[in-house]
Amino acid sequence: MGKSHEVSRRDFVKIVTGVAGTVIGAGITLPAVGYVLDPAIKSGGSGKENWIALGPLEKYPIGEPTPFNFTRTEINGWEKTFSTNGLFVLRKSDTEVEVLSNVCTHLGCRVAWHEDKGEFICPCHDGVFDKDGNVISGPPPRPLDNYEYKIEDGNLFVLFKEG
Ligand code: FES
Repeated sequence: MGKSHEVSRRDFVKIVTGVAGTVIGAGITLPAVGYVLDPAIKSGGSGKENWIALGPLEKYPIGEPTPFNFTRTEINGWEKTFSTNGLFVLRKSDTEVEVLSNVCTHLGCRVAWHEDKGEFICPCHDGVFDKDGNVISGPPPRPLDNYEYKIEDGNLFVLFKEG
C-alpha cells in the first residue's frame, strides 16, 4: 500500500512536470511560429490599388507635360522590393488633366519629353509619341497608357494598380 502511494506521487510529479514543460514549450514555440509565419501571411498580393498624391493641381502648368516620379515599396513575405514609377501630368484646363505613363508601350523603356520637338521620345528604338501619348512613329504598338485620376480640394491623385 505504502509502495503504491510512493509510485503515485512519482507519477504525479511526472505528470505535473510534463504539463508544466508542455505549457512552457508552447509559450516559447507558438510566438516563434507566429513570428516566422507572419510575413508570409501578410504578404502583399497583386492587384492592389492605391491613390498616389501628386500635390496641388496648380503646380502643373497648362499645356506642358510635367514629369512626376514616385517609389513604391512592396513587401512579399520576407522580400522587400522597391520600384520607381514615372508619369507625365498634362494639365489641359483648371479642371481637366491627362496623366500619361512614361513607360513605352513597345518594350517598356522610359520615354522622355522633348519640349523643343513637342514629342515624347523613347531612347531604346526611337519610338515617338505626341503630347497626348499617341504614336507618331517607331515600333510602339499603341499610345502611352493613361492613369485614372481624381481631383479633390484642388489636389491631384492618380490610381496606381500594382501588377
Ligand atoms: S522600347 Fe520604346 S521604342 Fe522600343
